[in-house]
Amino acid sequence: MYGLINMAIKQLVIDNIGEAGWREVQEKSQVKQNYFELLTVYDDDITYKLVGGASEVTGKKPEEILHLFGSYWIEFAANAGYEPLLNLFGPTLKVCLFNLNKMHDQMGAMMPGLIPPEFEIEKEISPTEFLILYRSKRVGLTAMVSGLLEALGKRYQLKVEVNYLGRTEDNLSDRFHIKWN
Ligand code: HEM
Repeated sequence: MYGLINMAIKQLVIDNIGEAGWREVQEKSQVKQNYFELLTVYDDDITYKLVGGASEVTGKKPEEILHLFGSYWIEFAANAGYEPLLNLFGPTLKVCLFNLNKMHDQMGAMMPGLIPPEFEIEKEISPTEFLILYRSKRVGLTAMVSGLLEALGKRYQLKVEVNYLGRTEDNLSDRFHIKWN
């Protein structure tokens, strides 16, 4: 994954358990690297190892770390210069949800090695309630998605409720229920 992701994990760790905590995570994860070029693609394994290391050091499950990371990511990306992209594709939360693929496609133009996730609005239950499908070429990142969706809601001063409903019948996607008022 792009170094931007690993740098965000590093910053999340430092914000929560400080520089010494980050060094511990590096030790546990066997990731010696302290800096990642934001626009360079690194092996996904590094990202997984960092999540594993953070899990070991904090005693939180990897899923919890991923959920926290998802919540953290939106603000991190906005501060890293991607705020205009978020604004462009998301004047409202609903529009943003419909535009998640376009947003990543646009990034792909600047990040040629990007392997983005894919989202699909499976059902609009009401203007503030949806079933969303998430598909990825990677495994194990599902827990990140609920954190991301909750954090997106916060950007619009909305408290969204996100529930993971499990894999779809064809086993190709993860299904989420999202609702706000
Ligand atoms: C402007 C804001 C955003 C930026 C700059 C951004 C950028 C990225 C980047 C660089 C990756 C790593 C993929 C790779 O390196 O191959 C990624 C992955 C991911 N993004 Fe975004 N993203 C943004 C917003 C969002 C939002 C709003 C969501 C969903 C609500 C989202 C969902 C994901 C997920 C789930 C992944 C994990 C990759 C996977 O599932 O395979 N992103 N994004």
